Amino acid sequence: MDEGSSEKYSILLPTYNERENLPIIVWLLISYMEKSGNNFEIIIIDDGSPDGTLDVAKRLEKIYGSEKIVLRPREKKLGLGTAYIHGMKHATGNFIVIMDADLSHHPKFIPQFIEKQKSEDFDVVSGTRYLDGGGVYGWDFKRKLISRGANFLSQLLLRPGASDLTGSFRLYKKTVLEKLVSSCVSKGYVFQMEMIIRARQFGFTVSEVPITFVDRLYGESKLGGSEIFQFVKAMLYLFATT
Ligand code: GDD
Ligand code: MN
Repeated sequence: MDEGSSEKYSILLPTYNERENLPIIVWLLISYMEKSGNNFEIIIIDDGSPDGTLDVAKRLEKIYGSEKIVLRPREKKLGLGTAYIHGMKHATGNFIVIMDADLSHHPKFIPQFIEKQKSEDFDVVSGTRYLDGGGVYGWDFKRKLISRGANFLSQLLLRPGASDLTGSFRLYKKTVLEKLVSSCVSKGYVFQMEMIIRARQFGFTVSEVPITFVDRLYGESKLGGSEIFQFVKAMLYLFATT
């Protein structure tokens, strides 16, 4: 327990139809964060989910208190990238953790990210599925191919110096995230990739921690053809401009 520490971690949870997953992820987050003795808040950014995710979030806010559970909903589905930006604006922590709310990202890795960050005062710590100790479970061949393909192409074109560009389980210094966000042009899933490329461009230090990504049990992925198209477009754009 580091009671005197002034570090605070704002954990951003973007949700779109995550009614079943939200109570479990929030419970896990609170258990692991309390166990690690770090000060934190959980910011839920729901984009008008038709399945009633926001009602579930409101109940969680009542249970755990509005210090810990901060609701910052938006009217409609405006995309993952802008959901992070919206959440970040309301964050009171000096560090920001970004993760999926569907239990694909296990909260147990967050204390590891924090340790890693502290070890050399890194600007960014990125979870990686593509280093020893990391992995993906439950994806079909097509989905693995998309992820591998996206990473391979971006590695080839952009030489980012990080092994997992499309992953979205990361820890940022808030000031660094703000700087990165203000220079990012993407709005959807490609946001993750662009962020890490920009980090390199600005000379921020990026470290990696192996994570296991487990495919969701409840609900479905929102990644579709248009997100893939956006990704390729953004990759070429970054190739041409950075
Ligand atoms: N608020 C909001 N708005 N949340 C969203 C939106 C949106 O438009 N779209 C997706 N989400 C939320 C989901 O509810 C979930 O918590 C998280 O963002 C990730 O969405 P998924 O639909 O579960 O993504 P995935 O599992 O297909 O993709 C994962 O892997 C990709 C490639 O490795 C994610 O980690 C992606 O970020 C990653 O790029
Ligand atoms: Mn998912």
